[in-house]
Amino acid sequence: VRRFHNRPVDAEAIERILQTGIQAPSAHNRQPWRFAVLTQDSSKQRLADHMGADFRRDLLTDGLDRTAVDAQVNRSRERILGAPVVIVLCLSMEDMDSYPDAARQSLEQQMASQSVALAGGNMLLAAHAEGLAGVWVCAPLFAPQAVTRALDLSASWHPQGMLFLGEAAVEPRVRARKTVAEVTWMDSPRTDSPRMQSQ
Ligand SMILES: Cc1cc2nc3c(=O)[nH]c(=O)nc-3n(C[C@H](O)[C@H](O)[C@H](O)COP(=O)(O)O)c2cc1C
Repeated sequence: VRRFHNRPVDAEAIERILQTGIQAPSAHNRQPWRFAVLTQDSSKQRLADHMGADFRRDLLTDGLDRTAVDAQVNRSRERILGAPVVIVLCLSMEDMDSYPDAARQSLEQQMASQSVALAGGNMLLAAHAEGLAGVWVCAPLFAPQAVTRALDLSASWHPQGMLFLGEAAVEPRVRARKTVAEVTWMDSPRTDSPRMQSQ
């Protein structure tokens, strides 16, 4: 869900969502997730301004004409401003292991990013359990410096994505999923239980 009613989310619900996020499993239990939680218009505005400037520059570099650029940048700004809660999911490598070689260091970073994603997934489910709706948006991964500048975050917090949460203003569109059979390799024949057929 990407469109929300203009009603604030209860602070206790936000706290429960964050508490559920931090119960996620993480590599070496180092808990590399960090969260920036925005509920104030002023901070959402700052985030939208900084990210919008970067997005505009990238789209112009891609060769899009100004009308198309304006439309995309405005849509992205309105989504940030229209979300009652924005949670920027960040990654910190501070407590992760360090390796002398780039290959293992990159894999360690990948484990940290997998851990942050698990926390984000928990938070989407927790929001659903609160009767809220939301979406994960990847834009901060593409404009990390803009996010860091806008929110004055520590340089060790690497933005990975953000969640928009709130009360749904639209019926969620059901998006198709590949079947289990399409995405699974098994060493034995699948049991075609009714539950599995329905997926
Ligand atoms: C890592 C990740 C990045 C995503 N980035 C965006 C995004 O930038 N913009 C957006 O509208 N949706 C984004 N989504 C949401 C997906 O498009 C959405 O989850 C998917 O289409 C399935 O739809 P559903 O979650 O409504 O079932 C992202 C989801 C994930 C997990």
